[in-house]
Amino acid sequence: MKNYFSIHDIDSLDTWVNEAIALKTAPLSHNELGKNKTIGMLFFNPSLRTRLSTQKAAINLGMNVMVMNFTGEGWSLEYGDGTVMDQGNSEHVKEAAQVVSQYCDVLAIRAFAKLESKDEDYSEKVLKSFIKYATIPVVNMESATGHPLQALTDAITITEHKKIDKPKVVLSWAPHPKALPQAVANSFVEMMQKMDANFVITHPVGFELASEITKEVPIDYNQENAFKDADFIYVKNWSSYHDYGKVGSDKSWQITKEKMNLTNNAKFMHCLPVRRNVVIDDAVIDSKNSVVIEQANNRTYAAQLVLKKILENR
Ligand code: CP
Repeated sequence: MKNYFSIHDIDSLDTWVNEAIALKTAPLSHNELGKNKTIGMLFFNPSLRTRLSTQKAAINLGMNVMVMNFTGEGWSLEYGDGTVMDQGNSEHVKEAAQVVSQYCDVLAIRAFAKLESKDEDYSEKVLKSFIKYATIPVVNMESATGHPLQALTDAITITEHKKIDKPKVVLSWAPHPKALPQAVANSFVEMMQKMDANFVITHPVGFELASEITKEVPIDYNQENAFKDADFIYVKNWSSYHDYGKVGSDKSWQITKEKMNLTNNAKFMHCLPVRRNVVIDDAVIDSKNSVVIEQANNRTYAAQLVLKKILENR
């Protein structure tokens, strides 16, 4: 594996999940692998979990870590071929990617959707430009359309908690006051299609994800019906894909204890950060069925596994 751009870079999901779970029991067992190797982490957007868990993962492997908040601190980048750069952008990604490749052995990038143009976001301009021009492996720390480190984490967490071979997993949309990207939901949907799960998506009409991603996954527009007998409830807001970037704040979709009572004593999952009492009631996130903190802990081992595979391949 050269890059970790999407979950389709995972060659054997079961093997990867089991390896990640094994890393949890001995996180320093490969701490010579990254000796004298450096990861450069470029953030175009805020982060808590991705930033610290990927740093921790790299440290566990013995790597050096360099982190840069690109927005506001780096030069604003130009991505177009042949652009006359007489406007706002100061540096072309062609030079930036090659220069960073000389300082680092692995490059990790976070660059969210701007939600201004579906075509631009779904072209994955930032990540794909860095992959094109960098001479080192690139890891996606959440791009415009996907969050594959989160999805690998979610597969690990579900594997650890499932009580039957094929659990019922429900991805539920929930309200949010701001326009959020579809990235987490997209990658989760792709991951559930690779796992042995009875997978259902529930959201209001108008919040369908890209059909190229959801494919044949059933969509139930009745949230309470979808929750019946579920083993896992995975909650996430996303803005509209079809009416691109439109906010969805219908409070009737908020996750409550009453809705969780319809499930088969389901585990509650969310990638975090989450707005309490907007997306989800305190009573749910604070309940014994909430695994959000364990889920966040698994971010380290998902990232560590990806970095380990990249280092072993070099
Ligand atoms: N889940 C997640 O990616 O968290 P951060 O945005 O804090 O990194």
